[in-house]
Formats: sequence, C-alpha cells, structure tokens
Amino acid sequence: MKYKLLELNRVHFQPRPGVKYAPEALRNVNLIKNLSLMGHEVIDHGDLKFEAVPNDTAIYNIQTPRTIGKAAKQISDKVEEILRCGQTVVTLGGDHSMSVATIHGHAKVENDLAIIWIDAHPDINTPLTSASGNIHGMPLSFLTKELQPYVPKLPGFEWLKPCISVKDIAFIGVRDIDKAERYIIDKYNITTFTMRDIDKLGMECVLERTIEAINPTLNKKIHMSFDIDSLDPAFAPSTGTPVPYGLSLREGMFLVEEIALTNKVTGIDLVEINPDLGSQRDQFTTISAAAEVLYAFFGKRTKTQLPSDYV
Ligand code: ARG
Ligand code: MN
Ligand code: MN
Ligand code: MN
Repeated sequence: MKYKLLELNRVHFQPRPGVKYAPEALRNVNLIKNLSLMGHEVIDHGDLKFEAVPNDTAIYNIQTPRTIGKAAKQISDKVEEILRCGQTVVTLGGDHSMSVATIHGHAKVENDLAIIWIDAHPDINTPLTSASGNIHGMPLSFLTKELQPYVPKLPGFEWLKPCISVKDIAFIGVRDIDKAERYIIDKYNITTFTMRDIDKLGMECVLERTIEAINPTLNKKIHMSFDIDSLDPAFAPSTGTPVPYGLSLREGMFLVEEIALTNKVTGIDLVEINPDLGSQRDQFTTISAAAEVLYAFFGKRTKTQLPSDYV
C-alpha cells in the first residue's frame, strides 16, 4: 500500500527548547528522500510558524497557556486540512503537547478514532494534578470526554472539543506513571501495557491485545503517537524526560511494523526528539532511531536487505 505522507511543523512548548530542531535534524538525514525511495509520495508541508501571545500569564503552574493553545489550534487545523485531502499525516515534533492538536484535527475527520500511545509516560495528567506544569504530560486529559469534569479549560484552548473516549486509548511501553495518572488509568480501566507486560507477553501479543481492546473489528482509524522516550535511553538519549529500561530499537520497530500492517493508521506523531541534548553521538543515535522507526512503519523490512544476487 502506498501512503501519501505529510509532515509539518516544529513545535516548541516546553522548557527544554531544543525539540523544535527535530524536524530539521530529521530532514538532514534525508528522511523525506528515503521515504520517497521506499515508494511513497511524500509531501513536505514545511514548518508551521507560531507566534507568542503577548501578556500570556501563567495559570496553575502552566506557563504561556495562550501561546500554546494558539499554536495547537494552528496544528489542529492543518492536520484536518491535510487529512481531508485523503492523505496520511505524520507530524514531527516537537513537544508531546502537540498531540492535543494532531488528535483533535484527526478526530474532526475520523469521528471514531483509536489511539495507540507509545511512550514511557501516559501523559494524562490534568492541569490540576500535574507536578511539572508541562502540557506534554497532559494531552490525553484535554482530549478525553470522561475526564472533562476534572479538567479546567485553559485560556487559549477554548476551541478544543474533547473528542476521544478512555476506551479508545492504549498505552504501550509505559514505565513512569504519576500518582494521579495511575488513579485515572485504574478508575477508567485504560488499556495499558507496561514494560513488564511486554517482557511477559512479547510485542506481537501486546499488539494483538491492544487491537482487541480498542479496535476489535478494525472499523476505526488509528492515531499512533510515538514518543521517542518509549525507547530505552541507550537508543534515544536525546530527549527531555528519558526513563531507563525501555523498548529496544528493534522492539519499537517491530511494534510499528505490526501497527502498519493493520492498514488503519492515518495519523502519526513522532515526538520529544531533542537534538540539543547530550553529546553529538547521542544526538546522532536519537535521530537515527527516530528515522528508523518511521522507515519501519513505512515498509522497510529487514528481509529486503538480502544480497541482491540472493536466490
Ligand atoms: N508525568 C510527567 C509530567 O506530567 C512527565 C511527562 C513526560 N511527558 C513527555 N511527553 N515527555 O510532567
Ligand atoms: Mn516535551
Ligand atoms: Mn514520554
Ligand atoms: Mn509523551
């Protein structure tokens, strides 16, 4: 199957600003060209331009909510526009707060959406439970209908309509869960596969169970949100909130290969790559891992690497 692939924007929403350089770093390793060589029609939509909203005072412990809300609206509109052209959207981040927008835009076009959230963190804090105030730890609480009684609307986010349900979310690779997040996961019985579950069941079974739980008849489109910190820091050291004992690169690649085989994915986020962090070698390792995850999703298979004269 051929995908039309689009990528957008640089997003900068957290105190470690380097994530905005990730799209450039990925372009520099020929991401677009390599995906095209794999047989896809790839359209690079370039970066969205964001502006700071003046007098954007903090609320709770969240800095610059209006600026983030405004940028998120731009991303949501762009994702919606691209999807309406029948294309698959890949959004390169950037901070994971951008998924508020990519999922919102996706859900406007596909009103019944399943979310596969591959991450060391479940990112489902509310503005009231977050200890850090970083919106990258909250996107799923903004989007989830059931949580709205507990989620105060932030200035700048008035446009955002909760559009997914707790039963449509699956977490894979989580290993750093805050107390309130644990409470929410348990209360709503959100499908969750920790590193231990992956060790025990194996990735193939984890994905089978994921699909069974959130998309059993495969009647829904899938949004795959891939936080690079799902990978072990050995494979992705240049990220803002690394957590030890994560996925091997091969586990991550296998997971996305299997997800791709559902033929249901129309939206992908690749986030939290921070080319400003760590040594040059760390940066190279992380960018390469991120690119390999996308290549794996878009059909590069190790079996195609047999010698050309192989019979
Ligand atoms: N749970 C922590 C918080 O809410 C860490 C979140 C990390 N999320 C991320 N996308 N890097 O601040
Ligand atoms: Mn972040
Ligand atoms: Mn994370
Ligand atoms: Mn995340």
